[in-house]
Amino acid sequence: MSTITQGYLDDPVFSLVSRVAEQEGVRAFVIGGYVRDCFLGTPSKDIDIVVEGSGIALAEAVAEHIRQVEKHSCHVSVFKNFGTAMLRYHGTEVEFVGARKESYHRDSRKPIVEDGTLEEDQLRRDFTINAMAFSLQREDFGALVDPFGGIRDLAAGIIRTPLDPEVTYSDDPLRMLRAIRFATRLTTPSRTFTIVPESLEAMRKMKDRMSILSKERIVEELNKILLTPHPSMGFRLLDETGLLEYILPDLVRLKGVETVEGRGHKDNFSHTLQVVDHVAEDELRQIDAGTLHNYAPVEGSDGFVEVQRTEPYVWLRWAALLHDIGKPASKRYDPVQGWTFHGHNVLGARMVPKIFQSLKMPLNEKMKYVQKLVELHHRPVSLVDDEVTDSAVRRLLFDAGNEIDDLMLLCNADITSKNPVKVARLKRNFELVREKLAEVEAKDAIRNMKNPITGDYVMKVYGIPPCDKIGVLKEYVKNAILDGRIGNNFEEADRLMRAYAPTLGLQEVASE
Ligand code: CTP
Repeated sequence: MSTITQGYLDDPVFSLVSRVAEQEGVRAFVIGGYVRDCFLGTPSKDIDIVVEGSGIALAEAVAEHIRQVEKHSCHVSVFKNFGTAMLRYHGTEVEFVGARKESYHRDSRKPIVEDGTLEEDQLRRDFTINAMAFSLQREDFGALVDPFGGIRDLAAGIIRTPLDPEVTYSDDPLRMLRAIRFATRLTTPSRTFTIVPESLEAMRKMKDRMSILSKERIVEELNKILLTPHPSMGFRLLDETGLLEYILPDLVRLKGVETVEGRGHKDNFSHTLQVVDHVAEDELRQIDAGTLHNYAPVEGSDGFVEVQRTEPYVWLRWAALLHDIGKPASKRYDPVQGWTFHGHNVLGARMVPKIFQSLKMPLNEKMKYVQKLVELHHRPVSLVDDEVTDSAVRRLLFDAGNEIDDLMLLCNADITSKNPVKVARLKRNFELVREKLAEVEAKDAIRNMKNPITGDYVMKVYGIPPCDKIGVLKEYVKNAILDGRIGNNFEEADRLMRAYAPTLGLQEVASE
């Protein structure tokens, strides 16, 4: 009897499934991500069980055992179309599926499924590292079943398909993105994961098969790549295989360096990927230090609660990815200044909704957050070209609102010049803005500032119907607060409004 469990199968759910499978006369195995993650030293809470027989029937039998013998309630969620069933046991999610040989229609991800043996099932899985299984049979409980060398590939850092990659990717083109996601996620400073050349070649050849995938599934994978500690690796692979051209053509357009009169500009694609990596590093560092916050609106009030961020925020990564997306459209060559990208932030912000729409991503406040960061990403650092005045910092705070911390993080990550003197100067100035922000924030409540003067109030004081003068008056008061000429309070705002209104031809109506 061989057993190499090393504690991987200590969770009581495994012996339970083992016993019930034996009673039911079927063979069951733990398979996929759980096995892979055991060997990587990061066991997951999601367990996939493959059964030579019906996965749904075994799940029902296990649940019945839990109810009858352990006297616990146990609900089984059955997904008939996929032939799978899921239950929870002491907080662990366990999914059951029957072993199958699969083949796919050319135009759909939906498989034609036939019952199969464990090995036939393993052969149809995506990668050798995801096709390993642990036996749950009493006679060899915990033995590793690894017919395609998953353990060898895991040790060597290799992503390889069990079948010819063209067959595996044709079965499910999403696997091309999964290969890139796993290579990116599993790579650490001490171990690089590479996709074997024939697999990369198959991706280049089959990139058009992406068209059968829903945008939602594509974005789910993109988000997982973005949330890795070094997303640039994934985006380089997406680019090299031609998949990026299909998914995000605007990003590919950032590639390349043009030279006129011996003057070139930086490659904006490489720069963007560097910024995404910087954001990821800094965000993780700040999460560890407990210094990063989100602001959630308090229901039924104008206020916000500060919530410490404990997970990377995918929308900040999107903002980093798209921060320079407006550069190609704004690029100009000026014989005096050289290359300029004036207004690329505004152009980029305008492109964000179109990009989100093309990927069927939400067009809600998440999109607005990305848009805001893209538009403002240059502001903190450009402030420092002039003197960092209170007024400029107040305006920055007002425009950024709750997004100020993320904006500062993105802006800092954006300093990537090869010239160490320039980097040192920008970083020093950036720190100045940061200090000033803290000062202004402590002094005036500018973040989420509401104009003390409302339109209704103006209409009442001057007895006027809605008209453009109301906007002019409010803007005048708001600017006075942001410039620091008056405090952010009703009394001073009211006094200023009453002093300025006559110049607009407004007369106060007698109060009753
Ligand atoms: N699988 C596959 N082809 C896919 C998706 C999944 O062959 N397109 C198989 C793999 O064996 C995979 C298992 O189903 O290991 C479970 O899939 P999933 O839960 O998506 O991935 P995990 O490998 O568990 O990894 P993670 O949960 O970390 O994404």
